[in-house]
Amino acid sequence: MKIVMLGAPGAGKGTQARMISEKFGIPQISTGDIFRANIRDNTELGQRAKSYMDQGLLVPDQVTCDLVVDRISKDDCAEGYILDGFPRTIPQAEALTKALEKTGSRIDFAIDVEVPDDHIVERMSGRRACPQCGETFHILYRKPVKDGICDHCGNELILRDDDHPDTVQKRLDVYHSQTQPLIEYYREQGVLHSIDGTREMDTVFADICAVLE
Ligand code: AP5
Ligand code: MG
Repeated sequence: MKIVMLGAPGAGKGTQARMISEKFGIPQISTGDIFRANIRDNTELGQRAKSYMDQGLLVPDQVTCDLVVDRISKDDCAEGYILDGFPRTIPQAEALTKALEKTGSRIDFAIDVEVPDDHIVERMSGRRACPQCGETFHILYRKPVKDGICDHCGNELILRDDDHPDTVQKRLDVYHSQTQPLIEYYREQGVLHSIDGTREMDTVFADICAVLE
């Protein structure tokens, strides 16, 4: 089962992708998490990605596509995967389609988590992320058991550098101009499913499961 998560920054792609991954036993591949891990480890890729991410801009397509095409060729992806935050541009989607065609496969589901812009800024300012495992919490909607500490690995939670309101607005602009056209792209492929992402996390998840099962 090969799944693409679509949706604006903060729509809940990561939250839902993690729940799908746990339920269906397939890996969640988040390009944002991969870039953040590289920034944390101060790799060349991390240094390159950071200069774009801090401005709310996209990392260049070639860098991102090579990374994902390599990642989905790994053994743990044999039964499928959830792409969270990729593709994000039409050229990325085309590169993915081409890479899959070579192995005779295709994306089975594109799940678009729909949340209007005015909800997003509030979600982002309340989000707290684990710099170690990438797990996300929210100060109101998904509190960690212990204030400010990741439930999974005990690390201190942080506000992501790109979650400050000015950068969030820039990311939303980039989403509308470069990523939203993917909704049409996957509709034309007959695999698009739109889900109302403004409801509670478990309700959103139940709707997604109904699509996948
Ligand atoms: P990335 O990390 O992918 O960020 P994003 O797309 O902006 O999405 P977010 O991770 O911010 O939001 P999300 O939809 O995962 O929401 P979440 O589940 O956390 O990318 C970051 C940057 O990396 C990009 O700007 C770009 O520079 C670069 N990049 C990444 N991929 C790239 C690519 N393919 N090409 C080029 N550049 C790339 O939820 C948000 C908050 O809301 C959380 O606090 C959560 O707890 C809460 N929440 C979730 N669901 C609900 C709900 N139903 N009700 C209430 N609260 C909820
Ligand atoms: Mg995310």
